[in-house]
Amino acid sequence: MDKITVVGAGHVGATAAQRIAERELAREVVVVDILEGVPQGKALDQWESAPVEGFDTMVTGAQDYEQTAGSGVFVVTAGLARKPGMSRDDLVQKNTEIIRSVSEAIARYSPDAIIVMVTNPLDVMAYVAKAVTGFPRERVIGMAGILDTARFRSFIAMELDVSVEDIQALVLGGHGDSMVPIVSTVSVGGIPLTQLLSDERIEALVERTRKGGGEIVKLLGTGSAYYAPSAGAVQMVEAIARDKKRVLPCAAWLEGEYGLDGLFLGVPCKLGATGLEGVIEVKLSDAEREALGASAEAVRGTMELVQL
Ligand code: NAI
Ligand code: 2OP
Repeated sequence: MDKITVVGAGHVGATAAQRIAERELAREVVVVDILEGVPQGKALDQWESAPVEGFDTMVTGAQDYEQTAGSGVFVVTAGLARKPGMSRDDLVQKNTEIIRSVSEAIARYSPDAIIVMVTNPLDVMAYVAKAVTGFPRERVIGMAGILDTARFRSFIAMELDVSVEDIQALVLGGHGDSMVPIVSTVSVGGIPLTQLLSDERIEALVERTRKGGGEIVKLLGTGSAYYAPSAGAVQMVEAIARDKKRVLPCAAWLEGEYGLDGLFLGVPCKLGATGLEGVIEVKLSDAEREALGASAEAVRGTMELVQL
């Protein structure tokens, strides 16, 4: 791939850009931010790490989108965090305005691009990008499920004192308290988790996963997680850039899958060179299906706050 653009040179964006460059997923990574000098400064700093890290992907910074023209993938991390006195509704509207302007620029300069949305509220911002660009669902995908699943996997690894590499798990639904960890699919080296841990311990890990974002926010004091989130976004970029056909939990625009229609929600997706190459339907228990429905309702509730 010739060019990948990361929009937002903040914590998630800058870390994602560095990871993309280190993996040489494109010839060039462009980092865009509204802050004067910041994307240029971070990009130059990253490029100066190339001789040491040994990568040839050029990193550049910009305030406008001319330099991004022809990008194959955009990772969108631009947005505001909630500030004291700002309601959730205010935040949705502010980030909607940001994502609207970013999406217009993407559609104008890179009409064939694939968007990996990261900005929160994730499922709803993916909807804004899809609505504004008019891109098909194959080319607008949200990152959250990989992060939520990674948190679940890391907590299970700590609990059992085993390698994270041997833990497979799946967290579906919206990116928020209503997310749905699918415990029946969790395995440790092929062994069902339910054979290794009590229901009570599993429930505690599920609860910690649901509150995983908040746990980091509380520890940091200011700002939110970015190492694991950027790793999640870059895993999606890599699946696309290298046409890997990976099966990953991502937010996809549903068109009848899981009995749901007309919203973004975390589901198992196949990602390859053309973006979303399929949504995989897992057999769910009645309780899991009900929880997914409730999660969809929570996402729809936030969608209703959006004025496009
Ligand atoms: P940050 O505040 O460090 O960075 C955001 C950057 O966006 C800032 O540099 C800001 O100047 C820039 N920005 C604002 N308006 C812009 C515009 N119109 N065009 C270009 N850049 C613009 O925030 P951080 O930690 O990087 O998080 C970014 C977003 O990602 C937040 O919305 C956060 O909630 C979300 N997030 C989502 C996760 C997920 O699982 N989907 C996980 C972690 C973060
Ligand atoms: C997280 O889950 C804030 O969405 C972000 O860490």
